[in-house]
Amino acid sequence: MTDQTTQPRVLIFDTTLRDGEQSPGATMTHEEKLEIASLLDEMGVDIIEAGFPIASEGDFAAVSEIAKRAKNSTICGLARANYKDIDRCWEAVRHAASPRIHTFIGTSPLHRAIPNLDMDQMADRIHETVTHARNLCDNVQWSPMDATRTEPDYLCRVVEIAIKAGATTINIPDTVGYTYPMESAKIIRMLLERVPGADTIVFATHCHNDLGMATANALAAVEAGARQIECTINGLGERAGNTALEEVVMAMRVRNDILPYRTGIDTTKIMNLSRRVAAVSGFPVQFNKAIVGKNAFLHESGIHQDGVLKNVQTFEIMRPEDIGLTAKNIAMGKHSGRAALRAKLKELGYELADNQLNDVFVRFKALADRKKEVYDDDIVALVADQATTD
Ligand code: KIV
Ligand code: ZN
Repeated sequence: MTDQTTQPRVLIFDTTLRDGEQSPGATMTHEEKLEIASLLDEMGVDIIEAGFPIASEGDFAAVSEIAKRAKNSTICGLARANYKDIDRCWEAVRHAASPRIHTFIGTSPLHRAIPNLDMDQMADRIHETVTHARNLCDNVQWSPMDATRTEPDYLCRVVEIAIKAGATTINIPDTVGYTYPMESAKIIRMLLERVPGADTIVFATHCHNDLGMATANALAAVEAGARQIECTINGLGERAGNTALEEVVMAMRVRNDILPYRTGIDTTKIMNLSRRVAAVSGFPVQFNKAIVGKNAFLHESGIHQDGVLKNVQTFEIMRPEDIGLTAKNIAMGKHSGRAALRAKLKELGYELADNQLNDVFVRFKALADRKKEVYDDDIVALVADQATTD
C-alpha cells in the first residue's frame, strides 16, 4: 500500500446531525445524537456539525452537550447571517475544546430575493456577520448557500469579503445538487486563482445528491484544491441526501493512485456507524448502496462466487474488514454454483463425497428456485435429508 503520510490531508466534516437530520422524518432523540456524535468522534471525524442551535431548545441542548463531551473532533454549529443566530450558536459550541461557528447566507439570485437584499446590501451583511462571528470564535466557517448557481464574479466578491472579515474556512455548497464534477472543480480553481487571500483559508465542498453526483462532485472539488469534504453517514440529508462519508473516504483509499489524499478516518468503524445511523434515523440503507449496502460485498452468481472463492480480488476492490464488516460474502441463491455450495458446506462443517454433493446440489437448486435466499439452516436441512435417504 502507498505511504500516505506525505499526502495532503482532507478534513472530514460530518453533518449527519445537522443536514442529515433535516431529512423529513429522520429526527433523532437527544440520547441518539450523543451516541452518534461519540461514534463520529471515535472514528476520527475532524469536524462534527452537531446541529442548528437556534432551531429549537432540543438542538441547542444537543449541540452544547456534544461540545462538552467531544474528545478529538472540532464541534460546529450552524447559524444564519444574523447576530441572534450567531450568538446562540456560540453559546452552544463554546463548551468544546475546539469550537467552530458556521454561518451562511444564500448568494444566488434566487436566494438573494428571499431576504430582498441587493448585491451590495448582501455584501455588507456578510461582512458584518462574519466579523461578529470571528469576534466570538477563532474558527469561523462561512458558506454562500447555492454557490453553484451564484454569478462567478459575485461569488468571488463575497468570498473575498468573508475572508477579509475573518472566515477561516469557506464552504462552497451545491445546495440543490445541480453541479457537475468538471464544474465543481472549476469553481474551486476559480476561487483559488482569483480571490486575494484564498491561499490562507481552507476551501470546503458541500454537495447534495439530487442528480446522483454528490460523491463525484466532492472528489472533483478536492482535486481542484478543496481540503474539507462535508458529508453524512449513509448520505443522509435533505431530498436525495448529501455526499456519503463512506463513499468519499473509501474512494480516496481504494483509488489513492489517482486521488492521493489522506483522511484521519478509521474506516473499520464505518459499518457500525452506518447501522446505528440507519437505526436511529429510521432510514434503512438501500441494499445496493455503495460500501455499506447489504449487498455491497455479497456475491450470488456462480461465476462470481467461484472467482471470489479462488481469489477474492477477482470481484472485490476493497476488503470487507476495511469497513469493519465481518459477515460472509457469499449469498446462497439460485445463481450459486457447486463450488460455492461446497465452500458453504465446509464452513458449516460438512465434507461430502462428490456423489453426495451432487445430490444436495440438485435439491439446493430446486429449493433456491422457490426461495429468494437459501439460509444456512436450509442447507443443513438438505444435508440431513440426504443422510436419511442414503
Ligand atoms: O446545502 C446547503 O447549502 C447547506 C448550507 C447551510 C451549508 O446545507
Ligand atoms: Zn446542505
